[in-house]
Amino acid sequence: MQNFTFQIPTKLIFGRGEENNVGQYVNQYATKILLHYGGGSIKRSGLYDRVVASLNEAGVQFVELGGVVPNPRVGLVRQGVALCRAEGVQLVLAVGGGSVIDSAKAIAAGVLYDGDVWELHAGGKPTGKALPVATVLTIPAAGSESSKVTVISNDDTLRKIGYHDECLRPVFSILNPELFFTLPRNQIANGVADMMCHIFERYFTQEQHTDVTDEMCEGVLRAIMRNAPLVYADPSNYDAWAEIGFAGALAHNDLLGRGRTECWACHGMEHELSAIYDVPHGAGLAVVTPAWMQYIWRENPAMFAQFACNVMGATPRRDTEAVIAEGILRLQEFFKALGLPLTLQELGVPTDRLEEMAKKTTGAWFGEEKGRGGFKKLVWQDVLAIYEMAR
Ligand code: NZQ
Ligand code: ZN
Repeated sequence: MQNFTFQIPTKLIFGRGEENNVGQYVNQYATKILLHYGGGSIKRSGLYDRVVASLNEAGVQFVELGGVVPNPRVGLVRQGVALCRAEGVQLVLAVGGGSVIDSAKAIAAGVLYDGDVWELHAGGKPTGKALPVATVLTIPAAGSESSKVTVISNDDTLRKIGYHDECLRPVFSILNPELFFTLPRNQIANGVADMMCHIFERYFTQEQHTDVTDEMCEGVLRAIMRNAPLVYADPSNYDAWAEIGFAGALAHNDLLGRGRTECWACHGMEHELSAIYDVPHGAGLAVVTPAWMQYIWRENPAMFAQFACNVMGATPRRDTEAVIAEGILRLQEFFKALGLPLTLQELGVPTDRLEEMAKKTTGAWFGEEKGRGGFKKLVWQDVLAIYEMAR
């Protein structure tokens, strides 16, 4: 196990009705805020009215900016930065999913950055400066409610890039499983795939002596796989959503990766798909992750056999290759049962730009082959082979 530090400053406020208290929680940090949201689901569900009532009751002033789209765009972020500066906003409150939260984080960082906010995403070093962000989560998926990351898309460059800074972890996140009842089934599935892949990116490691985090990863994955079919069958199942909601935050708050070298190759490959084809992040991961597993398992068969048996329920036996194949197949069957795509074709991604995306994933497209992934560093030819396997 490697040396590590671990601190999660985000206060998770979990349970029924907590969105009605958002005003008093905000009040501890700010008297004037930006209320940031997406394409309208929070208005249809009545959540917007409850949040506004709570802010008014607590005497919190707010300006608002809606219209965040999935794969959030830098154009709206720039508008948000200008609005916050003009209005003297002190905190950004995101009411929505990962896209809204990421847009809020980028605005919060951009307000205190002396330059165009995209520079931060396009390779900027963490500035350590951002307005505080708080969230009311409406879909458990991206884990942005307690992560230090914001991922933003740029329509001009067709890039989708993350910016990481510890100061972007929300000061608090309200997580009420009742708010997930209105999710359509495809979004439920996308979210489940994404949170599972956040754990895979940490779980698959070459590091030895990681028993504690191995077993935490395996346990959280099993809990997700037990409860996902329940919310898929009945999106108003509070108890199952509570498990999925808590798991989504744990999957990406960095606890499960402590002491390990994390991977993140699959996220890199998926972000190139979303950047060009605007596909949902979780669906893209459901396609590339099993292909990555098939390509890479020989680098550490013991790790993949452990996954097959402890997570996917394969029977241990001497034929390791068969055990691993069974584990990967069971994962694909699980994704398929949730209606997720398993191939680029099912995802709606054509195959004429695979080489470009492979080269962008590793940096070769920009003249510098940096490689990608902590489990085994992939060069662009590896990434292309994985995309080809996923056709
Ligand atoms: O925009 P509205 O109308 O709210 O509709 C949204 C959106 O269309 C809808 N939705 C959300 N909650 C709902 C709901 N519909 C009905 N009822 C509800 N309760 O769902 C759609 C998808 O929302 P989105 O926010 O895009 O989903 P998600 O949370 O999966 O976020 C995906 C984004 O997060 C990024 C992804 O790349 C992607 O851009 N990620 C962010 C990470 C981070 N910041 O740490 C890490 C992840 O790996 C990921 O990259
Ligand atoms: Zn993700």
